[in-house]
Amino acid sequence: MATRSVELKRGLKDVYLDRTQASFIDGTEGKLLYRGYNIHDLAEKSTFEEVAYLLLYGSLPNQEQLDELDATLKSTRTIPEEVYRVIDLTKDGHPMDVLRTAVSALASFDPDVEDNTADGVRRKGLRLTSQAATIICAHYRARQGLPPIAPDQSLSHAANFLYMMRGVVPDEDEAKLMDVDFILHAEHGANASSFASRVTASTLADLHAAIVTGIGTLKGPLHGGAAESVMKMAEEIGDPAEAEAYAKRVLGGHGRIMGFGHRVYKAEDPRAQHLRDRSRSLGEKLGQPQWIQILDALVEAMAPYRARGIHVNVDFFAGSIYYLMDIPEDLFIPIFALGRIPGWTLQVLEQFENNILIRPLLWYEGPMDLEYVPIEARA
Ligand SMILES: CC(C)(COP(=O)(O)OP(=O)(O)OC[C@H]1O[C@@H](n2cnc3c(N)ncnc32)[C@H](O)[C@@H]1OP(=O)(O)O)[C@@H](O)C(=O)NCCC(=O)NCCS
Repeated sequence: MATRSVELKRGLKDVYLDRTQASFIDGTEGKLLYRGYNIHDLAEKSTFEEVAYLLLYGSLPNQEQLDELDATLKSTRTIPEEVYRVIDLTKDGHPMDVLRTAVSALASFDPDVEDNTADGVRRKGLRLTSQAATIICAHYRARQGLPPIAPDQSLSHAANFLYMMRGVVPDEDEAKLMDVDFILHAEHGANASSFASRVTASTLADLHAAIVTGIGTLKGPLHGGAAESVMKMAEEIGDPAEAEAYAKRVLGGHGRIMGFGHRVYKAEDPRAQHLRDRSRSLGEKLGQPQWIQILDALVEAMAPYRARGIHVNVDFFAGSIYYLMDIPEDLFIPIFALGRIPGWTLQVLEQFENNILIRPLLWYEGPMDLEYVPIEARA
Protein backbone atom coordinates (compact mmCIF):
# COMPACT_ATOMS: atom_id res chain seq x y z
CA MET A 1 0.00 0.00 0.00
CA ALA A 2 1.34 3.44 -0.90
CA THR A 3 2.09 5.46 2.19
CA ARG A 4 2.47 9.02 0.86
CA SER A 5 -0.74 11.06 1.08
CA VAL A 6 -1.92 13.58 -1.48
CA GLU A 7 -4.72 16.11 -1.69
CA LEU A 8 -7.38 14.55 -3.89
CA LYS A 9 -9.69 16.83 -5.88
CA ARG A 10 -12.44 14.31 -6.58
CA GLY A 11 -14.54 15.30 -9.58
CA LEU A 12 -11.93 18.04 -10.15
CA LYS A 13 -14.18 20.29 -8.01
CA ASP A 14 -12.91 23.89 -7.85
CA VAL A 15 -9.87 23.09 -10.01
CA TYR A 16 -8.87 25.67 -12.66
CA LEU A 17 -7.39 23.74 -15.54
CA ASP A 18 -6.45 26.64 -17.84
CA ARG A 19 -7.15 30.26 -18.74
CA THR A 20 -10.06 31.08 -21.03
CA GLN A 21 -11.53 33.95 -23.06
CA ALA A 22 -14.71 31.98 -23.79
CA SER A 23 -17.09 32.56 -20.89
CA PHE A 24 -17.10 33.97 -17.38
CA ILE A 25 -19.26 32.35 -14.73
CA ASP A 26 -19.84 33.76 -11.25
CA GLY A 27 -21.65 30.95 -9.48
CA THR A 28 -22.37 33.00 -6.37
CA GLU A 29 -23.90 35.94 -8.20
CA GLY A 30 -25.53 33.80 -10.88
CA LYS A 31 -23.74 35.67 -13.67
CA LEU A 32 -22.75 34.36 -17.10
CA LEU A 33 -20.87 36.22 -19.84
CA TYR A 34 -19.97 34.91 -23.30
CA ARG A 35 -16.80 36.68 -24.48
CA GLY A 36 -17.63 39.48 -22.03
CA TYR A 37 -21.31 39.91 -23.06
CA ASN A 38 -24.02 39.24 -20.49
CA ILE A 39 -26.21 36.24 -21.27
CA HIS A 40 -29.32 38.35 -20.52
CA ASP A 41 -28.45 40.80 -23.32
CA LEU A 42 -27.61 38.00 -25.71
CA ALA A 43 -30.83 36.10 -24.92
CA GLU A 44 -32.99 39.21 -25.37
CA LYS A 45 -31.24 41.03 -28.21
CA SER A 46 -29.10 38.64 -30.23
CA THR A 47 -29.54 35.64 -32.50
CA PHE A 48 -27.90 32.21 -32.46
CA GLU A 49 -25.99 33.05 -35.65
CA GLU A 50 -24.59 36.21 -34.05
CA VAL A 51 -23.65 34.32 -30.87
CA ALA A 52 -21.94 31.59 -32.92
CA TYR A 53 -19.86 34.33 -34.58
CA LEU A 54 -19.10 35.96 -31.24
CA LEU A 55 -17.94 32.67 -29.76
CA LEU A 56 -15.86 31.53 -32.71
CA TYR A 57 -14.32 34.88 -33.69
CA GLY A 58 -14.25 36.72 -30.33
CA SER A 59 -16.31 39.83 -31.16
CA LEU A 60 -19.81 40.68 -32.35
CA PRO A 61 -20.01 40.63 -36.17
CA ASN A 62 -20.79 43.58 -38.42
CA GLN A 63 -23.57 43.00 -40.97
CA GLU A 64 -21.21 41.71 -43.64
CA GLN A 65 -19.53 39.25 -41.28
CA LEU A 66 -22.89 38.04 -40.02
CA ASP A 67 -24.19 37.57 -43.58
CA GLU A 68 -21.11 35.56 -44.42
CA LEU A 69 -21.50 33.27 -41.40
CA ASP A 70 -25.20 32.87 -42.16
CA ALA A 71 -24.42 31.91 -45.75
CA THR A 72 -21.82 29.39 -44.53
CA LEU A 73 -24.30 27.79 -42.15
CA LYS A 74 -26.94 27.62 -44.89
CA SER A 75 -24.57 26.13 -47.45
CA THR A 76 -23.59 23.25 -45.16
CA ARG A 77 -27.01 21.89 -44.25
CA THR A 78 -26.53 18.72 -46.26
CA ILE A 79 -25.00 15.40 -45.24
CA PRO A 80 -23.67 12.63 -47.50
CA GLU A 81 -26.04 9.91 -48.66
CA GLU A 82 -23.95 7.34 -46.74
CA VAL A 83 -24.64 9.17 -43.47
CA TYR A 84 -28.38 9.01 -44.15
CA ARG A 85 -27.85 5.25 -44.46
CA VAL A 86 -26.03 5.19 -41.10
CA ILE A 87 -28.97 7.07 -39.56
CA ASP A 88 -31.40 4.59 -41.05
CA LEU A 89 -29.40 1.59 -39.80
CA THR A 90 -29.29 2.96 -36.26
CA LYS A 91 -32.75 4.58 -36.19
CA ASP A 92 -34.06 2.50 -33.28
CA GLY A 93 -31.42 3.93 -30.95
CA HIS A 94 -31.71 6.95 -28.66
CA PRO A 95 -31.38 10.15 -30.76
CA MET A 96 -28.20 11.05 -28.84
CA ASP A 97 -26.65 7.72 -29.83
CA VAL A 98 -27.69 8.28 -33.43
CA LEU A 99 -26.32 11.83 -33.39
CA ARG A 100 -23.00 10.64 -31.91
CA THR A 101 -22.71 7.85 -34.49
CA ALA A 102 -23.66 10.04 -37.45
CA VAL A 103 -21.25 12.84 -36.46
CA SER A 104 -18.57 10.20 -36.13
CA ALA A 105 -19.45 8.90 -39.61
CA LEU A 106 -19.25 12.45 -41.02
CA ALA A 107 -15.53 12.47 -40.19
CA SER A 108 -14.97 9.91 -42.95
CA PHE A 109 -16.47 12.26 -45.55
CA ASP A 110 -14.98 15.57 -44.43
CA PRO A 111 -11.92 16.48 -46.48
CA ASP A 112 -10.82 18.86 -43.70
CA VAL A 113 -11.09 16.32 -40.92
CA GLU A 114 -7.46 16.59 -39.89
CA ASP A 115 -7.11 20.32 -40.42
CA ASN A 116 -6.47 21.54 -36.88
CA THR A 117 -5.67 25.15 -37.86
CA ALA A 118 -7.90 27.78 -36.25
CA ASP A 119 -9.62 28.47 -39.59
CA GLY A 120 -10.09 24.76 -40.21
CA VAL A 121 -11.61 24.22 -36.76
CA ARG A 122 -13.98 27.19 -37.17
CA ARG A 123 -15.03 26.01 -40.61
CA LYS A 124 -15.73 22.47 -39.37
CA GLY A 125 -17.46 23.76 -36.23
CA LEU A 126 -19.93 25.73 -38.33
CA ARG A 127 -20.40 22.85 -40.74
CA LEU A 128 -21.09 20.45 -37.87
CA THR A 129 -23.55 22.92 -36.33
CA SER A 130 -25.60 22.79 -39.53
CA GLN A 131 -25.10 19.10 -40.18
CA ALA A 132 -26.10 18.11 -36.64
CA ALA A 133 -29.49 19.79 -37.18
CA THR A 134 -29.94 17.81 -40.39
CA ILE A 135 -29.00 14.55 -38.62
CA ILE A 136 -31.40 15.06 -35.71
CA CYS A 137 -34.30 15.86 -38.04
CA ALA A 138 -33.51 13.09 -40.52
CA HIS A 139 -33.46 10.58 -37.67
CA TYR A 140 -36.68 11.95 -36.18
CA ARG A 141 -38.38 11.37 -39.50
CA ALA A 142 -36.65 8.07 -40.35
CA ARG A 143 -37.96 6.44 -37.20
CA GLN A 144 -41.48 7.39 -38.26
CA GLY A 145 -40.84 5.89 -41.70
CA LEU A 146 -40.76 9.36 -43.27
CA PRO A 147 -38.20 10.77 -45.73
CA PRO A 148 -35.99 13.69 -44.66
CA ILE A 149 -37.13 17.23 -45.44
CA ALA A 150 -34.74 19.36 -47.49
CA PRO A 151 -33.60 22.54 -45.67
CA ASP A 152 -35.28 25.84 -46.45
CA GLN A 153 -32.47 28.28 -47.23
CA SER A 154 -34.65 31.29 -46.46
CA LEU A 155 -34.88 30.27 -42.80
CA SER A 156 -32.58 30.90 -39.83
CA HIS A 157 -30.76 28.00 -38.17
CA ALA A 158 -33.45 27.69 -35.46
CA ALA A 159 -36.44 28.06 -37.80
CA ASN A 160 -34.95 25.66 -40.33
CA PHE A 161 -34.38 23.08 -37.59
CA LEU A 162 -38.08 23.12 -36.69
CA TYR A 163 -38.99 23.10 -40.38
CA MET A 164 -36.81 20.07 -41.16
CA MET A 165 -38.42 18.28 -38.24
CA ARG A 166 -42.08 18.95 -39.04
CA GLY A 167 -42.24 20.13 -42.63
CA VAL A 168 -44.06 23.30 -41.56
CA VAL A 169 -42.42 26.71 -41.31
CA PRO A 170 -42.67 27.72 -37.62
CA ASP A 171 -44.24 31.00 -36.64
CA GLU A 172 -41.97 33.80 -35.45
CA ASP A 173 -42.59 33.12 -31.76
CA GLU A 174 -41.65 29.45 -32.03
CA ALA A 175 -38.57 30.18 -34.10
CA LYS A 176 -37.50 32.80 -31.55
CA LEU A 177 -38.02 30.35 -28.67
CA MET A 178 -35.76 27.79 -30.34
CA ASP A 179 -33.22 30.48 -31.16
CA VAL A 180 -33.08 31.71 -27.54
CA ASP A 181 -32.75 28.14 -26.35
CA PHE A 182 -29.74 27.59 -28.64
CA ILE A 183 -28.17 30.86 -27.41
CA LEU A 184 -28.59 29.87 -23.77
CA HIS A 185 -26.94 26.49 -24.35
CA ALA A 186 -24.12 27.67 -26.60
CA GLU A 187 -21.19 27.84 -24.17
CA HIS A 188 -20.52 27.12 -20.52
CA GLY A 189 -16.87 26.89 -19.60
CA ALA A 190 -15.37 23.61 -18.45
CA ASN A 191 -18.65 21.74 -18.01
CA ALA A 192 -18.32 17.95 -18.29
CA SER A 193 -18.86 17.67 -22.05
CA SER A 194 -16.66 20.67 -22.95
CA PHE A 195 -13.97 19.39 -20.63
CA ALA A 196 -14.22 15.98 -22.30
CA SER A 197 -13.91 17.67 -25.71
CA ARG A 198 -10.81 19.50 -24.49
CA VAL A 199 -9.26 16.26 -23.25
CA THR A 200 -9.75 14.75 -26.71
CA ALA A 201 -8.35 17.87 -28.40
CA SER A 202 -5.38 17.87 -26.02
CA THR A 203 -4.14 14.67 -27.66
CA LEU A 204 -4.22 16.64 -30.96
CA ALA A 205 -7.10 14.52 -32.22
CA ASP A 206 -9.48 16.40 -34.55
CA LEU A 207 -12.68 18.42 -34.02
CA HIS A 208 -15.00 15.58 -35.11
CA ALA A 209 -13.41 13.33 -32.45
CA ALA A 210 -13.76 16.08 -29.82
CA ILE A 211 -17.41 16.71 -30.67
CA VAL A 212 -18.24 13.01 -30.64
CA THR A 213 -16.70 12.95 -27.14
CA GLY A 214 -18.80 15.97 -26.14
CA ILE A 215 -22.02 14.38 -27.41
CA GLY A 216 -21.27 11.15 -25.54
CA THR A 217 -20.62 13.04 -22.32
CA LEU A 218 -23.64 15.32 -22.60
CA LYS A 219 -26.04 12.38 -22.64
CA GLY A 220 -25.82 11.53 -18.93
CA PRO A 221 -28.65 12.53 -16.56
CA LEU A 222 -26.26 14.56 -14.41
CA HIS A 223 -25.51 16.77 -17.45
CA GLY A 224 -27.72 17.31 -20.52
CA GLY A 225 -29.88 14.30 -19.72
CA ALA A 226 -31.54 16.27 -16.92
CA ALA A 227 -33.83 18.09 -19.40
CA GLU A 228 -35.32 14.78 -20.49
CA SER A 229 -35.79 13.69 -16.87
CA VAL A 230 -37.54 16.91 -15.76
CA MET A 231 -40.60 16.43 -17.95
CA LYS A 232 -40.82 12.73 -17.07
CA MET A 233 -40.94 13.93 -13.46
CA ALA A 234 -43.61 16.55 -14.24
CA GLU A 235 -45.73 13.90 -15.98
CA GLU A 236 -45.37 11.59 -13.02
CA ILE A 237 -46.41 14.35 -10.61
CA GLY A 238 -49.40 15.18 -12.83
CA ASP A 239 -50.89 17.88 -10.57
CA PRO A 240 -49.29 20.91 -8.84
CA ALA A 241 -50.88 19.82 -5.55
CA GLU A 242 -48.82 16.61 -5.67
CA ALA A 243 -45.44 18.29 -6.18
CA GLU A 244 -44.57 18.68 -2.51
CA ALA A 245 -45.36 15.06 -1.67
CA TYR A 246 -43.34 13.93 -4.71
CA ALA A 247 -40.31 16.00 -3.67
CA LYS A 248 -40.51 14.67 -0.09
CA ARG A 249 -40.68 11.11 -1.36
CA VAL A 250 -37.69 11.48 -3.72
CA LEU A 251 -35.54 13.47 -1.31
CA GLY A 252 -36.49 11.18 1.59
CA GLY A 253 -35.13 8.26 -0.43
CA HIS A 254 -31.92 10.26 -1.04
CA GLY A 255 -32.89 10.77 -4.68
CA ARG A 256 -32.38 13.97 -6.65
CA ILE A 257 -34.87 16.36 -8.17
CA MET A 258 -33.71 16.76 -11.75
CA GLY A 259 -33.09 20.29 -12.99
CA PHE A 260 -31.88 21.44 -9.57
CA GLY A 261 -28.33 21.96 -8.38
CA HIS A 262 -25.18 22.83 -10.25
CA ARG A 263 -21.48 22.29 -9.77
CA VAL A 264 -20.75 26.00 -10.27
CA TYR A 265 -23.96 27.97 -9.60
CA LYS A 266 -24.88 28.31 -5.96
CA ALA A 267 -27.43 30.98 -6.93
CA GLU A 268 -30.10 30.58 -9.62
CA ASP A 269 -28.68 29.69 -13.02
CA PRO A 270 -29.05 32.99 -14.97
CA ARG A 271 -30.20 31.06 -18.05
CA ALA A 272 -33.23 29.64 -16.25
CA GLN A 273 -35.25 32.87 -16.06
CA HIS A 274 -35.45 33.25 -19.85
CA LEU A 275 -36.84 29.78 -20.23
CA ARG A 276 -39.20 30.08 -17.25
CA ASP A 277 -40.80 33.27 -18.60
CA ARG A 278 -41.10 31.87 -22.10
CA SER A 279 -42.46 28.55 -20.87
CA ARG A 280 -45.12 30.38 -18.86
CA SER A 281 -46.23 32.49 -21.83
CA LEU A 282 -46.26 29.51 -24.17
CA GLY A 283 -48.27 27.39 -21.72
CA GLU A 284 -50.86 30.16 -21.40
CA LYS A 285 -51.01 30.70 -25.16
CA LEU A 286 -51.59 26.97 -25.76
CA GLY A 287 -54.07 26.59 -22.90
CA GLN A 288 -51.70 24.23 -21.04
CA PRO A 289 -50.61 26.18 -17.95
CA GLN A 290 -50.45 23.01 -15.83
CA TRP A 291 -46.85 22.12 -16.70
CA ILE A 292 -45.34 25.37 -15.54
CA GLN A 293 -47.64 25.22 -12.50
CA ILE A 294 -46.24 21.79 -11.60
CA LEU A 295 -42.69 23.07 -12.08
CA ASP A 296 -43.43 26.19 -10.00
CA ALA A 297 -44.83 23.98 -7.24
CA LEU A 298 -41.64 21.88 -7.32
CA VAL A 299 -39.55 25.04 -7.00
CA GLU A 300 -41.59 25.90 -3.90
CA ALA A 301 -41.14 22.38 -2.52
CA MET A 302 -37.37 22.76 -2.98
CA ALA A 303 -37.29 26.14 -1.17
CA PRO A 304 -35.47 24.70 1.90
CA TYR A 305 -32.64 23.61 -0.41
CA ARG A 306 -31.93 27.19 -1.55
CA ALA A 307 -30.01 27.89 1.64
CA ARG A 308 -27.71 25.01 0.60
CA GLY A 309 -27.13 26.62 -2.79
CA ILE A 310 -29.43 24.27 -4.68
CA HIS A 311 -31.51 26.23 -7.20
CA VAL A 312 -33.04 25.53 -10.59
CA ASN A 313 -30.61 25.13 -13.47
CA VAL A 314 -31.02 25.70 -17.23
CA ASP A 315 -32.53 22.26 -17.81
CA PHE A 316 -35.45 22.74 -15.46
CA PHE A 317 -37.60 24.89 -17.74
CA ALA A 318 -36.05 23.91 -21.08
CA GLY A 319 -37.90 20.59 -21.09
CA SER A 320 -41.30 22.24 -20.55
CA ILE A 321 -40.76 24.48 -23.57
CA TYR A 322 -39.86 21.58 -25.86
CA TYR A 323 -42.79 19.60 -24.46
CA LEU A 324 -45.21 22.43 -25.22
CA MET A 325 -43.70 22.68 -28.70
CA ASP A 326 -44.69 19.04 -29.13
CA ILE A 327 -41.10 17.87 -29.42
CA PRO A 328 -40.59 14.30 -28.15
CA GLU A 329 -38.70 13.96 -24.86
CA ASP A 330 -35.80 12.00 -26.28
CA LEU A 331 -34.94 14.95 -28.56
CA PHE A 332 -34.36 17.30 -25.61
CA ILE A 333 -30.68 16.36 -25.17
CA PRO A 334 -29.88 16.47 -28.92
CA ILE A 335 -31.34 20.01 -28.96
CA PHE A 336 -28.99 20.93 -26.11
CA ALA A 337 -26.11 19.39 -28.12
CA LEU A 338 -27.11 21.40 -31.18
CA GLY A 339 -26.87 24.64 -29.25
CA ARG A 340 -23.57 23.62 -27.65
CA ILE A 341 -21.58 22.85 -30.83
CA PRO A 342 -20.15 26.40 -31.15
CA GLY A 343 -19.10 26.19 -27.47
CA TRP A 344 -17.40 22.82 -27.91
CA THR A 345 -15.68 24.20 -31.01
CA LEU A 346 -14.45 27.24 -29.10
CA GLN A 347 -13.10 25.06 -26.28
CA VAL A 348 -11.19 23.00 -28.85
CA LEU A 349 -9.87 26.19 -30.50
CA GLU A 350 -8.59 27.41 -27.14
CA GLN A 351 -7.04 24.05 -26.35
CA PHE A 352 -5.20 23.97 -29.68
CA GLU A 353 -4.02 27.59 -29.28
CA ASN A 354 -1.85 26.71 -26.31
CA ASN A 355 -1.99 22.96 -26.12
CA ILE A 356 -0.89 20.80 -23.25
CA LEU A 357 -1.87 17.16 -22.88
CA ILE A 358 -4.58 16.87 -20.22
CA ARG A 359 -3.56 13.93 -18.12
CA PRO A 360 -4.26 13.97 -14.36
CA LEU A 361 -3.25 11.30 -11.87
CA LEU A 362 -5.17 8.70 -9.90
CA TRP A 363 -4.07 7.84 -6.38
CA TYR A 364 -3.60 4.07 -6.21
CA GLU A 365 -5.08 2.30 -3.19
CA GLY A 366 -5.05 -1.34 -4.32
CA PRO A 367 -2.79 -4.19 -3.24
CA MET A 368 0.93 -4.07 -4.08
CA ASP A 369 3.52 -6.56 -5.33
CA LEU A 370 1.25 -9.62 -5.35
CA GLU A 371 2.77 -12.93 -6.35
CA TYR A 372 1.63 -14.12 -9.81
CA VAL A 373 0.06 -17.58 -9.36
CA PRO A 374 -0.28 -19.82 -12.46
CA ILE A 375 -3.92 -20.56 -13.38
CA GLU A 376 -3.64 -24.29 -12.49
CA ALA A 377 -2.60 -23.33 -8.97
CA ARG A 378 -5.45 -20.84 -8.33
CA ALA A 379 -8.34 -21.78 -6.04
C1 LIG B 1 -25.56 18.94 -11.21
C2 LIG B 1 -25.05 18.09 -10.04
C3 LIG B 1 -24.53 16.77 -10.56
C4 LIG B 1 -23.92 18.87 -9.35
O1 LIG B 1 -23.38 18.04 -8.43
P1 LIG B 1 -22.12 18.33 -7.48
O2 LIG B 1 -21.56 19.67 -7.68
O3 LIG B 1 -21.20 17.19 -7.63
O4 LIG B 1 -22.77 18.32 -6.08
P2 LIG B 1 -23.14 17.03 -5.29
O5 LIG B 1 -23.70 15.99 -6.18
O6 LIG B 1 -21.97 16.66 -4.43
O7 LIG B 1 -24.29 17.58 -4.36
C5 LIG B 1 -24.05 18.35 -3.18
C6 LIG B 1 -25.19 18.10 -2.22
O8 LIG B 1 -26.39 18.64 -2.76
C7 LIG B 1 -27.37 17.62 -2.95
N1 LIG B 1 -28.00 17.85 -4.27
C8 LIG B 1 -27.41 18.32 -5.38
N2 LIG B 1 -28.29 18.37 -6.39
C9 LIG B 1 -29.46 17.93 -5.89
C10 LIG B 1 -30.73 17.73 -6.47
N3 LIG B 1 -30.97 17.99 -7.75
N4 LIG B 1 -31.69 17.24 -5.70
C11 LIG B 1 -31.46 16.96 -4.39
N5 LIG B 1 -30.27 17.11 -3.79
C12 LIG B 1 -29.27 17.59 -4.54
C13 LIG B 1 -26.60 16.32 -2.97
O9 LIG B 1 -27.40 15.24 -2.57
C14 LIG B 1 -25.48 16.62 -1.99
O10 LIG B 1 -26.00 16.48 -0.69
P3 LIG B 1 -25.09 15.93 0.51
O11 LIG B 1 -23.99 16.95 0.65
O12 LIG B 1 -26.03 15.86 1.64
O13 LIG B 1 -24.57 14.61 0.04
C15 LIG B 1 -26.20 17.83 -9.02
O14 LIG B 1 -26.68 19.06 -8.52
C16 LIG B 1 -27.32 17.01 -9.62
O15 LIG B 1 -27.25 15.78 -9.63
N6 LIG B 1 -28.42 17.68 -10.14
C17 LIG B 1 -29.49 16.96 -10.77
C18 LIG B 1 -29.16 16.72 -12.24
C19 LIG B 1 -29.20 17.98 -13.07
O16 LIG B 1 -30.15 18.75 -13.01
N7 LIG B 1 -28.16 18.16 -13.89
C20 LIG B 1 -28.06 19.27 -14.83
C21 LIG B 1 -26.96 20.20 -14.44
S1 LIG B 1 -26.96 21.62 -15.50
